[in-house]
Amino acid sequence: MERRENIGESLAENIAIGSDHGGFDLKERLKAVLADAGCAVTDVGCHSLASVDYPDIAQALLQTLASGQCRRGILVCGTGIGMSIAANRDHRFRAALCHDEYTARMSREHNNADILCLGARVIGLGVAEGIVRTWLTTTFAGGRHQTRIDKMGG
Ligand code: RB5
Repeated sequence: MERRENIGESLAENIAIGSDHGGFDLKERLKAVLADAGCAVTDVGCHSLASVDYPDIAQALLQTLASGQCRRGILVCGTGIGMSIAANRDHRFRAALCHDEYTARMSREHNNADILCLGARVIGLGVAEGIVRTWLTTTFAGGRHQTRIDKMGG
């Protein structure tokens, strides 16, 4: 039988990823990290360093999740703030802005975040890679945390 690395629920998962121009370089690097973790990648843009508006990219990623093509996604902008605000306007999904592995782990374990937001001008590639790997492999704890999510309407 083929032996596969145990990376939890990320195995064979199709992850959506998007960025504005401020996050473009980091997005391109993270696509390789996702492939290395065994994920398929759906890139919703942007596709160059030309200036774009982060709400448009967030909307494209949200549509990918809403369609069922991807269950989870990653959004990158300069600070991660614009993307997290834009993504959380859609109440069907929960976006979390994470700057370290601890918050990445808790965003999955306690908040069951569907969308990871990163600030490319705030963190370096090494930290971003650790965050992504942690976020991919951490499962939701449920229980009292589900109760709290239910109180927000999901
Ligand atoms: C673009 O310059 C920048 O404003 C954007 O990437 C992001 O940081 C917004 O929140």
